[in-house]
Amino acid sequence: MPLADLTADARILWRLLRGQPRRGSHAERLQAFYAPQAARYDAFRARLLHGREELIEELAIAPGEHVVELGCGTGSSLQRLGSRLPGLASLHLVDLCPALLDQARQRAVGLANVQVVEADATRWQPEKPVDVVFLSYALTMIPDWSAVIANAHTMLRPGGRIGVVDFHLPADANPVGRRFWLSWFGHDGVHLSAEHLPALRQRFTECRRSERRAAVPYLPGLRAPYYRFVGERRD
Ligand SMILES: C[S@@+](CC[C@H](N)C(=O)[O-])C[C@H]1O[C@@H](n2cnc3c(N)ncnc32)[C@H](O)[C@@H]1O
Repeated sequence: MPLADLTADARILWRLLRGQPRRGSHAERLQAFYAPQAARYDAFRARLLHGREELIEELAIAPGEHVVELGCGTGSSLQRLGSRLPGLASLHLVDLCPALLDQARQRAVGLANVQVVEADATRWQPEKPVDVVFLSYALTMIPDWSAVIANAHTMLRPGGRIGVVDFHLPADANPVGRRFWLSWFGHDGVHLSAEHLPALRQRFTECRRSERRAAVPYLPGLRAPYYRFVGERRD
């Protein structure tokens, strides 16, 4: 890896080692945590946040659909949506962190069907019901995650799809693994839970689910547990 990339990684790792600030509102803590990383966020997270491309495939997003991403970060999903993007009726990218949204806005320049929105995913609602809502590695960073699931349910039309990819605590995690991942992720404001998947299955009819483990940069041999879920609003 070139020296410039290693130096940029070192800055991100330093931020991760310092952890998420404990003071301030949720929005202030996100901004303090992410602002120093924003420019290098995508390159590092590409090696940490697995399954995002697969989630987009599994959602089978069709031309003419209205789509929302909650907790969009830098808007990197615009790249993953690829050739599907121009055909969408609308795409709202919603996040609470101005530093990451600046990156998303730069990406969205010239894309007439894309709107970047600074708002809380627990409360923001589109003007009309939408066809698809997705979240990638955002549910674990939102303290009131059950409010986000309820809010996503409300904004979907009946039969609309939700897609979530995120870290979690698998049902078969051993106690040592549980404690390690809880404290390792918790330090950076990522709150792993065994309750997210059951809560999603309670509100949405499950269409697809997979639970896997994947590599973590600079931690050879360790594999973090994550899942993908695609469900349909049933009422
Ligand atoms: C780990 S990042 C994932 C970003 C992006 N989805 C990705 O895959 O790269 C989690 C994101 O959730 C956002 N977030 C946390 N709490 C939020 C809230 N209450 N409302 C909206 N976004 C929130 C953070 O600002 C951050 O951008």
